[in-house]
Amino acid sequence: MDAIVARNLKKSFGPVTAVDDVSIAIPEGGIFGFLGPNGAGKTTTIRMITGVLIPDAGSVRVLGTDVQEEPLTAKMKMGVIPENGTVYSDLTAEQNILITAKFFGMDRAAREERAFEILEQLGLLERRNDIVRTFSKGMRQRVSIACAIVHSPPVLILDEPTTGLDVYSRRLVIDTVRHMNRKGSTVLLTTHNIEEANALCSMISIINRGKIVATGSPEKLKKTFDTSGYVEVSFDQPVGPSLFSAPGITRAELWGDKWRVYTDDPDKAVKHLAAVAARDHRMIVSIATSNPTLEEAFVQLTTEV
Ligand SMILES: Nc1ncnc2c1ncn2[C@@H]1O[C@H](COP(=O)(O)OP(=O)(O)OP(=O)(O)O)[C@@H](O)[C@H]1O
Ligand SMILES: [Mg+2]
Repeated sequence: MDAIVARNLKKSFGPVTAVDDVSIAIPEGGIFGFLGPNGAGKTTTIRMITGVLIPDAGSVRVLGTDVQEEPLTAKMKMGVIPENGTVYSDLTAEQNILITAKFFGMDRAAREERAFEILEQLGLLERRNDIVRTFSKGMRQRVSIACAIVHSPPVLILDEPTTGLDVYSRRLVIDTVRHMNRKGSTVLLTTHNIEEANALCSMISIINRGKIVATGSPEKLKKTFDTSGYVEVSFDQPVGPSLFSAPGITRAELWGDKWRVYTDDPDKAVKHLAAVAARDHRMIVSIATSNPTLEEAFVQLTTEV
């Protein structure tokens, strides 16, 4: 069975069409990513999937339960981390987890055991008796995640779980997502961090202006674009873009002190660069080829032409 099935979701806010006929089927067991720029409609889609926002049209089923018809049953199957966390600021970290566990109907012993386990997992054990209001953003986000996973939900939905977090918090969040997935939860997350989507997701939908523009595994999406490999090169003196106009080179961009030369034939591009360097008596300081990146696929799909 698919864990999440959304059919023809639509949502407008006045003249703005935030989500325009989005359909997805997320199979059980994977980590599915929604990747898109600011304002693409990710949060609006997530809010409709989690039953917080009523769609103008379309329907959502979570593990077979229609989210609009049976909201409570559907919500019991989900753990949700919204874009702006929903923890109680006046309670301690542990109280937040215990109260959420109670809402999900766990008995006292199970609540306490699970609270301890996830406080430890999320690096919050030492601060468990502190009021959340006194927490940093990263710590508050970890409490939010702890609350979302307390009932070991079969479906975990996270809206930009790592935005604004430091390396340590980010790693804890990612480890927790992976851990939940290994234990059987299907994960849906949104991100604009392409590397994160690449590293974490088995399937990605790229969403832009309220529409899904591509869906596939990260590797498949990378390969969809035939001109997406590049050669990174730097010279001993500044050079202009004219050096890079040659057959097979799609475009060149200045990246710090290097040029990134996009090409569908890295071998040909490298030979061209070596030849022009020799001709103009320039020294190549560094040169490296790179395979197609997800970033390139993303840029091509979300940039207006
Ligand atoms: N409650 C609302 N009222 C009016 N407009 C809204 C509302 N919620 C979202 N929008 C609009 O819908 C569009 C999509 O917004 P949404 O928050 O879904 O984007 P997003 O992909 O989550 O962006 P971000 O990456 O910045 O979080 C935007 O144009 C936004 O201004
Ligand atoms: Mg958002």
